[in-house]
Amino acid sequence: MKTIRYGGDYNPEQWPEEVWHEDVRLMREAGVDLVSLGVFNWGLIEPTPGEYDFGDLDRVMDLLHGNGIGVCLGTPTSSPPAWLRRAHPEIRLVDYDGRVMAGGSRHGVCPSAPAYLEACASIVERLASRYGDHPAVELWHVHNEFGWAGVECFCAVSAAAFRSWLAEKYGDVDRLNRAWGTVFWGLVYRSFDQVEAPSAAPPGVNPALLLDWKRFSAEAHIACYTMQREIIARHSEAPATTNFMIPNCGDMDYFRWAEEVDVVSNNHYLIAEREDNHVELSMSADLTRSVAGGPWMVMEHSTSAVNWQPRNIAKTPGQMRRNSLAHLARGADGLMFFQWRASRAGAEKFHSAMVPHGGTDTRLWREVVDLGADLERLSGVVGADVAAEVAVVWDWESWWAQELEWRPSVDLRFRERIEEYYGSLWRQHVTVDFVRPEADLSGYRLVVAPSAYLLTDAAAKNLRGYVERGGYLLVSYFSGIVDEHDVVHPGAHPGPLRDTLGLWIEEFHPLTEGASLALDSGAVGRIWSEHLRLEGAEALAVFTEGPDAGRAALTRNRLGRGAAWYVATALDDATGLRPLLSEVLDAAGVDRPRGIPEEIELVRRGGYVFLINHGERDVEVAGIEGADALEGTAYTGAVPVPAGGVVVVRIAKERVESGR
Ligand code: GLA
Repeated sequence: MKTIRYGGDYNPEQWPEEVWHEDVRLMREAGVDLVSLGVFNWGLIEPTPGEYDFGDLDRVMDLLHGNGIGVCLGTPTSSPPAWLRRAHPEIRLVDYDGRVMAGGSRHGVCPSAPAYLEACASIVERLASRYGDHPAVELWHVHNEFGWAGVECFCAVSAAAFRSWLAEKYGDVDRLNRAWGTVFWGLVYRSFDQVEAPSAAPPGVNPALLLDWKRFSAEAHIACYTMQREIIARHSEAPATTNFMIPNCGDMDYFRWAEEVDVVSNNHYLIAEREDNHVELSMSADLTRSVAGGPWMVMEHSTSAVNWQPRNIAKTPGQMRRNSLAHLARGADGLMFFQWRASRAGAEKFHSAMVPHGGTDTRLWREVVDLGADLERLSGVVGADVAAEVAVVWDWESWWAQELEWRPSVDLRFRERIEEYYGSLWRQHVTVDFVRPEADLSGYRLVVAPSAYLLTDAAAKNLRGYVERGGYLLVSYFSGIVDEHDVVHPGAHPGPLRDTLGLWIEEFHPLTEGASLALDSGAVGRIWSEHLRLEGAEALAVFTEGPDAGRAALTRNRLGRGAAWYVATALDDATGLRPLLSEVLDAAGVDRPRGIPEEIELVRRGGYVFLINHGERDVEVAGIEGADALEGTAYTGAVPVPAGGVVVVRIAKERVESGR
């Protein structure tokens, strides 16, 4: 990709043909060079089984190509036609409570249903053979948001597929019994046939069963994807992708998914009523870049309001630009929207688009055109890496495991804890990568593990080796507790992390709802305390209240050439987490700007520094020398970043020292 790809979902089937001509004219005006086509058109291109009508699609493809607009061609399998559901009622998705999904919407089908998979294979074969060498096709957009209506299907076919998957994984049933610890409650299986899918059941279902069920369920969607990708590859050399839902779909391991796509693409929608939604956007972008291992693309975001939140708040002037350029700063090489032209009919008519119902004499359209012009000037970032010296451990399986039933406290939330650490680092202008716990960590000065409940022996060994070789590690409570089957590691917690952290835990002390505890450092802890027994680690702060008064709350263990910190409570940001992170970042030698207001997002990508002002006052950032990539202005002293504005500097020299 040489330019930043710009565009959105294009649904010409919703409009008469004369509008298509206006569409391509406007696309050119806005600098749009890529559109997603045919994402939901199965019912139109295959009106009855085995009968095809590609007339409209042929004409649109040629029209787009004739106007220099590339196509990201959808496979329409996320919206099966009504005839398919009627002919094969058994393909309908069954939810946890046994409810069978009716038609009338999209999705809602079982990813393992043979009739569905056969119909998918057949329509994809038709599409790929027809358009595989069409010059407009630049990318294949397989399906749409796998798992959108629920990743898990509890129908009889899925249950049988689960049993086969287990038989394949464990070979013999005694291995499964040992791994799952089925002697507990005598839940032992004598053959794979006896294993049931974990739909509505009395509480206390074996957590190892639940974890494998989640793995199986996610893999069923991946298999549906790879089946399509392989058909496409027989007819086309264009790369394939499917749009991820990072980080909102907690039920898919996108590190695993990323192994299967040629280009990682993601959909991200702001949570409109959340005050720090721009921080959540950054987290999504960093996580997407991390699963991609490099540049990626935004397949969908919104120009303004969506239609599915309780109150769909419109974006304020400049907000779409800030959002888009933040994705770009954090590694996106393409920025696409849902959707090109706002629909008149159907479920999404109140969703914003690039062309709103009000047409082109609108603020929104002008912002869309201006963004296209910005992207042209910023094409130098394409392919460039984002600089990050800090890694945050993120593991979807650990998230799944931690939030199964019957944990020590309902306040032990994976995402909340990651967001606390991420947000605090963000406000200190530190860009992070996310890593799997088994990843190569040698490139990072600091690794933070805010929530690593499930940690394999191999992962724990990896963390230990990282510290011994000179790395700095910060681990938060309720980490290193179980293995990949949710079985507690032998001996005291935190199992395989004991030596690395130089301590063990005698007892957990979850706090009551809303309670807090003071530490002698002046920090305040919430949610959790525990009885730590130090074996090598030194106490940096102690609890002064509660069941662990007088005992360590915060520790450091020097090991080999590095050091490992441990935090035994949920630290309040201002009094605890922020100063702690600042100290640890200093110890690890992480370079970062100081004295810049916290609402300034500062990200370095390749030879560019992005400065995004999320606040309401103008700010000057000192210490960056270079040329404004959008305006051409040369900066030799300070860079002014207006309230709500974005400045991108092509740097000659950077040593961000201060700001005001
Ligand atoms: C999802 C879907 C799109 C559209 C948008 C609306 O991301 O992929 O088809 O429904 O939501 O926000």
